[in-house]
Amino acid sequence: MVTPLGITTSFYKKKALTLSISALLCLSVNAAVFAAHPNITPQTLHAITVLPDSEKHRIGDRIIQVEDQIKHLLPQLTLAEKVSLVHAAGKFHIPAIERLGIHEMWMSDGPHGVRYEIDRNSWAPAGWTNDYSTYLPPLTAVAASWDKNMASLHGNVLGAEARHRSKDLILGPGVNLARLPLYGRNFEYMGEDPFLAAALVVPTIKAIQANDVGATVKHYALNTQELNRTGVNAKPDERTLREVYLPAFEAAVKQANVHAIMGAYNEFRGTNANQSEHLVKDILKGEWGYQGVLLTDWNVDINTYDAAMNGLDIEMGTDVASFDDYFMAKPLLEMIKAGKVPESVLDDKVARILRVQLSIGMMDKQRLSGQRNTQAHRNDARTIATNGVVLLKNDDQVLPLKAAKLKNVLVLGPNADKRHGFGGGSSEVKALYEISPLDGLKAKLGDKVKVTLMRPASSKFMPIPNDYLTTRHWTGTPSWQINYFNDSAMTNLASESWIADPQFDAKGHTQSIEIKANIKPMESGNHSFSIQADGQVALYINDQPLINTSTAQSAKMLIQSMSLVAGETYAVSLRYQGNKQATLGWETPNSLYNSEQEYLAAAKKADAVIYFGGLSHADDRESIDRPDMILPGQQDEVISKLLQANANTIVMMIGGSAVEMPWANKTKALLWGWYGGMEAGHAYADILFGDANPSGKMPITLPKKLTDTAPIALNDYHAKESLYSEGVFMGYRWFEQQKIAPLFPFGHGLSYSQFNYSDIKLSNNSIKGNDTLTVTVNITNTSKVDGAEVAQLYLHDIKASVPRPLKELKGFEKVWLKAGETKTAQFNLTKRDLSFWDVNTNDWLAEPGEFEVMIGSSVADIRVKKRFSYQR
Ligand code: BGC
Repeated sequence: MVTPLGITTSFYKKKALTLSISALLCLSVNAAVFAAHPNITPQTLHAITVLPDSEKHRIGDRIIQVEDQIKHLLPQLTLAEKVSLVHAAGKFHIPAIERLGIHEMWMSDGPHGVRYEIDRNSWAPAGWTNDYSTYLPPLTAVAASWDKNMASLHGNVLGAEARHRSKDLILGPGVNLARLPLYGRNFEYMGEDPFLAAALVVPTIKAIQANDVGATVKHYALNTQELNRTGVNAKPDERTLREVYLPAFEAAVKQANVHAIMGAYNEFRGTNANQSEHLVKDILKGEWGYQGVLLTDWNVDINTYDAAMNGLDIEMGTDVASFDDYFMAKPLLEMIKAGKVPESVLDDKVARILRVQLSIGMMDKQRLSGQRNTQAHRNDARTIATNGVVLLKNDDQVLPLKAAKLKNVLVLGPNADKRHGFGGGSSEVKALYEISPLDGLKAKLGDKVKVTLMRPASSKFMPIPNDYLTTRHWTGTPSWQINYFNDSAMTNLASESWIADPQFDAKGHTQSIEIKANIKPMESGNHSFSIQADGQVALYINDQPLINTSTAQSAKMLIQSMSLVAGETYAVSLRYQGNKQATLGWETPNSLYNSEQEYLAAAKKADAVIYFGGLSHADDRESIDRPDMILPGQQDEVISKLLQANANTIVMMIGGSAVEMPWANKTKALLWGWYGGMEAGHAYADILFGDANPSGKMPITLPKKLTDTAPIALNDYHAKESLYSEGVFMGYRWFEQQKIAPLFPFGHGLSYSQFNYSDIKLSNNSIKGNDTLTVTVNITNTSKVDGAEVAQLYLHDIKASVPRPLKELKGFEKVWLKAGETKTAQFNLTKRDLSFWDVNTNDWLAEPGEFEVMIGSSVADIRVKKRFSYQR
């Protein structure tokens, strides 16, 4: 028996467990059982029931004692000690109360790898050399796998590594939905569908928490844009909130007993989400019975009274001079002393903090110690990346490539040799290595095949690529700092920000602007700098003027050369006066870029041409949304030309959000690879060469153009407020309702195998009350290749009293089938699956009538369907 917290053994002898976990789980638990065993509450039982089977005894034995231990500890804490626990005592921890055996509770980002160690009291890196972690594919890749096993693998690596880095809470997974393709953080989350995100977040959390680490589901709720993320007022109607934006959080609480939830930066109906009575007190802690902690995101806009009274438990990251100045520090202490906030409110928060700490074994000598950077974890990263790749098109069976037939492979595109781990914001990961797509191809093909990388030069005037920058935005992204001044002498700073490329638009107002960054040339020699600007410009390199126009220029190209040395760092500053735009580009001494003639000639001759394009964390990143849905740089132009030169050019997009692909109908082979983590290149090569069969499906809709998406079409993307005007018709539901054909629909993804759907059966033609309906369908692999199909079940309420989507995902099953094999996929539909949120009764409502079950390969590719009726 563990004797943590300085509790004497006699305490435990007296309170010895009255019921074993096995006995408890076998019992039909009713009020009498709870009365006979006061150390077991319905909440305790729930916490044990949702544990993975493998941990039911180990963690269950611990959890069964938790409520007694809280009762024992809480009265021993002084008021000041209790207040100290509800706010940060450093950048990423809350304090210890040594005399009672309460340890510091440490948190760490993030959702796809444990972040490098940050200084105890500042944002600076702590400078450790032993803080590398496995860089997993982000959650978009897990969502694209449509595979709960992948979610478990992901969570297990994260949990084990967090534990190995002595962390108590890992700040992930994130389940905000991809409503807007421009949203900078889509890559961190699980796609656009509430059912998919809910289904996958549960195994992720369970696997994290099985490692004695608390998962922290974020960001509660409605953090769906980075534009004014700390101020935008999210105002969805109640039905939209319940049906679309909350189910993943609800599942995290009810089905996985998540230990922590992080509030969102944004406001919800006029107050910060962390202190919203409706979101936190009524729904999270009221209706859902959440027993864990709600902690803030880092530096949110709250006030002491509302935060305290409405259920916030821990305040983190507030930007004030001293920890005592946190809203939930001295101000809270004073309010309690003045009787404005009851001490019982504080006690509840502390009880929750202790519950989490005790549940994850923070006072248990037998607590797991985790593992990190193991080969097994790398293998898992590769498996997840492979399972997340989506084959969007494969006309004429261009793929898989046959290695034996290749001598000469041409590789192009900005992501061919780019590494993505260190970027994107708080989710950045410091990995021991990262296999780029090019590395993966070379490893697969060995020495016998010539693999050539070319960097296409653009016919347009392009900004200096950010690959050369050493200046980084705090998100880890190479960026230019942009300063706006009130005066032409540039002494009076009005505002500052960051941009990915040295290109800006002064938007019609006369401005004095400086953009600056440090750049590191990759080769020595004469670099010719070019400025295309409408206005007066000056270019300084290491504070020496290279170009300086005393008068305004009109869109003129100004060029000056300078000799630069490879590997040296140069401070570059472009100063601009005017009200239009300016771009800074350059020509490097030659060999880095291939002319159009060169790369197109090479594309014609190559046995295979593979273009790795898409986004990077210069675009997909925390704190800034993308300005548009267009591929950055000259990608559209280069891909179109390559497809003309070689129609079999394979295009692989890497990114976390939709992009416009105007050339898509010309491609024969098109894939989507997300950011694949540290093993990305190996995973992509496995897919391209058929060592793995693609099995991913899009967890987001890929629209043809930005204006097709609801927030833009409805003019509902603003800094001030977001009305969620499309209501429950989010993502694919909008496209179906509006009859807009997307470029690729939600759920779409091909395989090297082909599948046939047959024999849909319902357990009943009619169900009533709380009956469950079982639906089965046979899936046959009709090809000669083993593979997997994700059968997706969509439901439609034929006649409802409220507008309901034409299809709503209510089940999915990834079925692995050998060539020629048939298996039966099974789905269970509950009353809740049939229901919508009824604003009249404030409850879920399944209306009697007919429903249609549709099962298919994507939302737009339904293969079999059947109807049933529901009665009250
Ligand atoms: C992000 C969170 C993150 C936190 C701590 C915030 O900026 O929104 O997701 O966990 O920082 O780094």
